[in-house]
Amino acid sequence: MIYLDNAATSFPKPEPVYQALDRFARTSLANPGRAGHRMAVAAERTLDAARHALNQFFHGEAPERWIFTLNCTDGLNLAIKGIIQAGDHVVTTDLEHNSISRPLQALEKAGVISLTRVASVDGYVDPGAIRAAITSKTSLVALTHASNVLGTVQPIEAIASIVRETAALFLVDAAQSAGVVPIDLRATPIDLLAFPGHKALYGPTGTGALYVGPRTDGKFRPWREGGTGGDSSSATQPIQLPYLLEGGTPNVLGVAGLAAGIAWVAERGPESLRRHEVELLQQVVDWAEDSDCWRVAGRWDPETHVGALSLLAPEPLTPQDLGGILDASFEIAIRPGLHCAPYIHRALGSFPDGTLRLSPGPFTTPDDIKAFITALTEITAETR
Ligand SMILES: Cc1ncc(COP(=O)(O)O)c(C=O)c1O
Repeated sequence: MIYLDNAATSFPKPEPVYQALDRFARTSLANPGRAGHRMAVAAERTLDAARHALNQFFHGEAPERWIFTLNCTDGLNLAIKGIIQAGDHVVTTDLEHNSISRPLQALEKAGVISLTRVASVDGYVDPGAIRAAITSKTSLVALTHASNVLGTVQPIEAIASIVRETAALFLVDAAQSAGVVPIDLRATPIDLLAFPGHKALYGPTGTGALYVGPRTDGKFRPWREGGTGGDSSSATQPIQLPYLLEGGTPNVLGVAGLAAGIAWVAERGPESLRRHEVELLQQVVDWAEDSDCWRVAGRWDPETHVGALSLLAPEPLTPQDLGGILDASFEIAIRPGLHCAPYIHRALGSFPDGTLRLSPGPFTTPDDIKAFITALTEITAETR
């Protein structure tokens, strides 16, 4: 199988991730912090070491500010529902994944918040449009770092500076950027950073994290209350991070794999991993430009792009037909459809069928991309 669906979840994982998962599962898979025996202590140390690794990788304020989550959706919901108050105004964009759009839309529908959705242009959000949308009631600006449909990287540094001049918090969805675009929390004032562990940080599914910066202190309501392993005598959730926001047995096995993934990425550097993927996509962009019927969605700029690209399918082919044929006849895995991001497809005019998204990974080769291009050329020639 040629796997070109790394934007959904990365496959394969680097070898050290498989090794870490196997080793941890066989030797240390106890309940962290729940007992004093050596296996529980080893499990707790694994969590602590991973929090340190995240803090170092993204230059956060402190390891305890990293909350382990189930995935990026979990972290985004934790941030949105843990912070928002009745009467707040929230600014977001038409690039968002449903993991931001749906919780915000539901809160707006319930009359809890008012919402402004800023339109992107060619896949990019203009910082000036965010500035114009912020009001005195804005408590949160929620934005994806890189579009999961178009692969375009947003100017979060400029937007973070604008938000920091106001009372609002800045929530960044780094689902498509964590691991391939450097994020420095010392240089960029982000209050809340959510990302999955299972995409470009190469952990297993069931992993993710939310960074909660100092400006959120005292503002969070816990929404997953329960055991934390520490002070069980307290009648309510401890107020200390990370326990305020982590209840129940954590996915410590997944975190062990995630830590190995982060180490692997840190060794290579996000920028070199991004470049590899963008160079592969350039092959597809060049082919689409030369073809008489394929078009790339959004503006292609290799300097501000991650490894995801959407192709607009020529009629009468639908992205769904193409996805099925590529899988069944060519053993190529891509993702057709709306990619859980309906607003940008409406803006592109590709709603409701969507686009054909390909997303190479660090182990994808130029020959894999050649095979994808050959397959699309054959399918197009046969059906048109
Ligand atoms: C931009 C973006 N945000 C959020 C998510 C949700 O991530 P997860 O599947 O880890 O919940 C995705 C998943 O593809 C995404 O691309």
